[in-house]
Amino acid sequence: MNKQMDQANQRLAVVTGGNRGIGREIARQLSVKGLQVLITTRDEEKGRQTVEEMRKEGLSVVYQVVDVTDAESVRQMVERVKSDFGRLDVLVNNAGIILDRGVSVLDVGESVMRETFETNYFGALRIIQASVPLMKEHRYGRIVNISSGLGAFDILQGLLGLKGSSSAYRISKTMLNALTCLVAQDVADIGIKVNAVCPGRVQTDMGGEDAPITVEQGADTAVWLATMEKDCPNGGFFRERMPIAW
Ligand SMILES: NC(=O)c1ccc[n+]([C@@H]2O[C@H](COP(=O)([O-])OP(=O)(O)OC[C@H]3O[C@@H](n4cnc5c(N)ncnc54)[C@H](OP(=O)(O)O)[C@@H]3O)[C@@H](O)[C@H]2O)c1
Repeated sequence: MNKQMDQANQRLAVVTGGNRGIGREIARQLSVKGLQVLITTRDEEKGRQTVEEMRKEGLSVVYQVVDVTDAESVRQMVERVKSDFGRLDVLVNNAGIILDRGVSVLDVGESVMRETFETNYFGALRIIQASVPLMKEHRYGRIVNISSGLGAFDILQGLLGLKGSSSAYRISKTMLNALTCLVAQDVADIGIKVNAVCPGRVQTDMGGEDAPITVEQGADTAVWLATMEKDCPNGGFFRERMPIAW
């Protein structure tokens, strides 16, 4: 086994919302690459089932119940990672919700906005804040925030003709993008790289059956950034392994 493989085999990756969709596929691809993977799921039974199915494929994956809106469950997850693995190398903030598809910004309920921000923005923020100290111990970390081009400013300004729809979801992703830029500056000197990814419209419960992109393709850029050893960018926004505009 060469040195790079050996290092990769020791790496521990956490993928939030790993029981279905893009998160599950990211977890699968990371595991295939030899990383140890812990998926988080909201539901114990879904976690157990996902891990069992992955083990049948020969993959070694464990799960932990986490609701990213619940700070205590995030704290427990990081504690477990610390005690069971002693390190945290890769964090993929994938868990996300969309509650206001097609609803105008003029009509969206404030509670819907808050619930969406709580998962898509604060969820990522609290896991990053809890994880960075552990990453810092080994002066190595790859954080990938699964964002969306729908939160990019040119699209917000009307490029896709979506007008002011899905504003809670889209603004939550703009916030996640901003978070990516700011965290990047504060981890730049400690070996940690953080980037945002737009997976495109992917065939999942969220993306719909008619989406043009398979989960395998949708997971690819996140896995690429999560496992990049040398010359990994910091503070970028990517789709199909290419930088895109904020
Ligand atoms: N699919 C697309 O076309 C597309 C496009 C652009 C960006 N994205 C982004 O990609 C990510 C994954 O999307 P997807 O299409 O795979 O979505 P999905 O199939 O709807 O899966 C979402 C995952 O997030 C989990 N989740 C939701 N709220 C959570 C919470 N509070 N705590 C913990 N986990 C939570 C879900 O858990 P449960 O199973 O318990 O609900 C599920 O595992 C999202 O951030 C999404 O915004 C998707």
